[in-house]
Formats: sequence, C-alpha cells, structure tokens
Amino acid sequence: MDNGKHYNIAIDGPSGAGKSTIAKMLSEKLEILYLDTGALYRAVGLKAMRDGWEENDEKVSELIGGIDISVRYDMGTQRVYLDGEDVSEEIRRNIISDYGSRFSALPSVRSALLDLQRKTAAKYSSVLDGRDIGTSVLPNAKYKFYLTASADIRARRRYNELIAKGQSVDYETVRRDIEDRDKRDMTRAVSPLKKAVDAIEIDSGDMSTDEVVNKITEYISK
Ligand code: DC
Repeated sequence: MDNGKHYNIAIDGPSGAGKSTIAKMLSEKLEILYLDTGALYRAVGLKAMRDGWEENDEKVSELIGGIDISVRYDMGTQRVYLDGEDVSEEIRRNIISDYGSRFSALPSVRSALLDLQRKTAAKYSSVLDGRDIGTSVLPNAKYKFYLTASADIRARRRYNELIAKGQSVDYETVRRDIEDRDKRDMTRAVSPLKKAVDAIEIDSGDMSTDEVVNKITEYISK
C-alpha cells in the first residue's frame, strides 16, 4: 500500500477503545511497524511506583533523565525495557495503568518520551497508538484516526481482558478507573487526549475488530 513510500498512521482515543488490538492488526496487514506509546508511559509509571516518585514535575524532571526506556521487537511483537529489564508483562498490571496515566500528565515525562516516538516514526513506516499522536507527536502524520466507544463498553472489554489474564478485579472498579483515566487524560494541561481536527473518528462500540481494521484500510487505500 502507498507505493512502498514512508508513511505513519496515528491512532488516538481513550482507554479500552481497542486502539492496541486494531493498531497491531493493522501493522500486520500493512506490514509496517507498530509502536504502542502507552507502554512507554507505563514503564515510567512502573519506575515511579517502584521508587516512590512524588507526582511533582520539578522533582520528576531531575529523575527522568536517569532512566532508560527502550523498545525492541521480538518476532514483530514490541517488548519494552526499563533500564535494560524487560518489563513488558509487568506494565500491564492494572495498578500501572493508574501510575502511567498520572505521571503522563507531567510535562517532563512527556518531553522525555517524545524523541523515541518521533525517531521511530521517522525511521519506519509505522502505526502509533496513544493519546496525542495526531495532535502533538506526529501532527503531520499522513493518516489519523480517533477510536472511541462508550465508557460502559470500554470498561467491559478491559474487565474481560484482566480476568482472562487471571487478575482479580471487579467490574465497578474497572469502570471507575476508566472514567478517572478519561478525565485525567482529557483535562491535563500538556497534550491532552483530543481528536485532531483532521482525524477520522470511528466508534468501535458495535464493530468487530476486523470491521474496524477494514474501515481504516479502506480510508487509507482511497
Ligand atoms: O494506552 P495505555 O492505556 O497503555 O496508556 C497508559 C497511559 O499512558 C494512559 O492513561 C495515558 C498515557 N498515555 C499518554 O498520555 N499519551 C500517549 N500517547 C499514550 C499513553
């Protein structure tokens, strides 16, 4: 697709809208790289939890330069490293969703992770999913999508995912967590979650993942 030229696809949207599943399927279909940017914020959140960082931008700005976050690909699957340790599984814990969201609101954290995202996108044709890809990380991305679904559907999906992974959670807590994260991600001062004016909005609520991927590839091939 796209005559083998370099291009990037930005997929933004709230938690549980299906971004990572769709982005991964899309990257396989189009044979391009997938960068899950939420995983980078989660790695910072994990470090903050482990070391008891205070949620204070001045303090975090002194610490963030001392950590190394990188990604590698194992058979096409992204692995995330924190100071050389593979933390890909640990960052999926529900508590890290909260830490990731809270620390992602700090300007020092956002600017520390910008370079890795932009360099990866510049080097490879890729699909990046996150909250601010189309608005801030890659405002010139060739294709931009904003994926949504109701809070109830997103909470139900996240609950099923966590249960399938053997984590013990209850639906009401997951729903409350989703609403708290939505509010925090959408109202923070720096790069809040919002639809880029030139992004195509897709409500994935009543759609299968295949339908969403087909809809996106239809737009791209137009
Ligand atoms: O997509 P995710 O749930 O793995 O992301 C975890 C948190 O990271 C999310 O609550 C907000 C933050 N995030 C962000 O601020 N900007 C991004 N591009 C991606 C994630």
